[in-house]
Amino acid sequence: MTYRSYLFVPADSPKKMSKAGGGEAEALILDLEDAVADDAKAEARGMLTEFLAEPIAPARFVRVNAMDTGLTEADVAATAALHPDGYVLPKCKGPGDVEALARLIDKHNGPRETQIMAIATETVRAVRCLMREDWSHPRLSAITWGGEDLVADMGAYSNRSADGDYASPFVLVRDLTLFAALEAAVAPVDAVFTNFKDNEGLARETAAASAMGFTGKMAIHPAQVPVINAAFTPHQTQIDWANRVLEAFARAGTGIARLEGEMLDLPHRKRAEAILATVRRIETAKDSW
Ligand code: COA
Ligand code: MG
Repeated sequence: MTYRSYLFVPADSPKKMSKAGGGEAEALILDLEDAVADDAKAEARGMLTEFLAEPIAPARFVRVNAMDTGLTEADVAATAALHPDGYVLPKCKGPGDVEALARLIDKHNGPRETQIMAIATETVRAVRCLMREDWSHPRLSAITWGGEDLVADMGAYSNRSADGDYASPFVLVRDLTLFAALEAAVAPVDAVFTNFKDNEGLARETAAASAMGFTGKMAIHPAQVPVINAAFTPHQTQIDWANRVLEAFARAGTGIARLEGEMLDLPHRKRAEAILATVRRIETAKDSW
């Protein structure tokens, strides 16, 4: 399952969780990691389990603490029986960490449907793994990236250049995330845009991400959610194109088709199918609200 918008919500804030649960985000990332202070983790788990017990429209992902903190198992143990839609794994160092989290979900009787979204670029080691390894895993449903923790791990002090665009190592990391997700056939999800007062900048960055094949983006503030949803909603011109492409393939009856003088092959067909699947998913979500 893929989502256009994933809203981070600190798990130690019942007020924010309840506000987000009634909002427009397609998925929430209920955060037990960086948004919660070390001495508040246990209390946050308690608040989170109460929140997970109530039904809400958005999908519910729990961001656990990283595998090397010693806290991950307690995070999973407290939540697995409440059937969150998935877990977000921060500071994921590679497919081995995905497998280790999957084993914890199994151990605590999480159902087969419980997904994992890996944040795969928070350490130098993970970035190198994105270049080398196939990340496919039965529980993995998305790979996302973040530029904030990587800055610290690299010993750098900014991920943006003077003009405000991402500096080249972070552009590379975004691109590697996209390719690793595509290879693993999971959703590529774009990083947060931290300046939540700049919705124009967010709209530009999200439009660019959508054009290059990302299917969703994470948010830190509810005001970012409508901007992100809009950017990942196919336009009527794209929908018309997708319908014409599939008609052309139906007419041709082969792997190659023609549309208005252009040759079409498998990537066009996949693109067209993805656009129409997104439209159907948005319609279905609307019906269930
Ligand atoms: N989820 C749910 N509600 C949120 C929210 C979020 N992520 N961010 C803000 N809100 C709520 C506020 O509680 C406030 O509600 P109210 O009007 O009922 O009082 C309203 O939206 C407006 O918020 P605003 O005053 O503009 O922002 P703030 O100063 O309260 O919060 C942040 C700013 C950055 C602290 C907040 O957006 C936040 O906690 N974001 C998530 C941070 C996080 O999880 N980071 C870890 C991953 S990067
Ligand atoms: Mg972090």
